[in-house]
Amino acid sequence: MIAIRLMTEDDIPEVARMEKLIFPDPWSEKVYRETFRLPDVRYLVAENDNKITGVAGVRNIVGTGEITNVMVLPEYRRKGIGRMIMEELLECGRDLGADDFTLEVREGNLGAIRLYESLGFSCEGKRPGFYRNPPEDALIMWFRKC
Ligand SMILES: CC(C)(COP(=O)(O)OP(=O)(O)OC[C@H]1O[C@@H](n2cnc3c(N)ncnc32)[C@H](O)[C@@H]1OP(=O)(O)O)[C@@H](O)C(=O)NCCC(=O)NCCS
Repeated sequence: MIAIRLMTEDDIPEVARMEKLIFPDPWSEKVYRETFRLPDVRYLVAENDNKITGVAGVRNIVGTGEITNVMVLPEYRRKGIGRMIMEELLECGRDLGADDFTLEVREGNLGAIRLYESLGFSCEGKRPGFYRNPPEDALIMWFRKC
């Protein structure tokens, strides 16, 4: 049974451990705590039997929702958790006042790109050399209201 809920400050250590497991340049607990306290920021977690299995965050910057930290634990992938959390996150972003949404994704991350495209995002640009470890360009994807 999957539940999507707002991340709390108490979730941060578990979320930071997950981030370390999944991303080569993970956000630290400190960075999560700092961004968590910013106004217009919301993080959602997916929970399966009291275990956090997915995370995603959004920050509303003057009407644009910047999406970050989208991840699902490897053993829980392809079960629809990424989609569920992203759909809820877009609603959360709208509640914060965002009309359009944007995110960056590694050019070779085809699974994530497919997920975002299936939600209505499309690629509008590229940031050469945006990622390190390993080096890779970022695609800039947008979801626009109209
Ligand atoms: C990207 C990620 C969040 C997807 O999470 P998920 O829970 O597996 O996604 P879902 O099960 O909701 O998949 C929804 C759709 O996205 C697409 N998709 C997801 N992963 C895919 C993959 N590995 N290959 C191809 N398509 C994929 C499919 O269209 C899928 O629908 P389907 O299963 O009906 O075919 C997950 O793979 C992940 O955490 N990856 C590592 C971290 C990461 O890359 N985050 C994105 C940073 S921008």
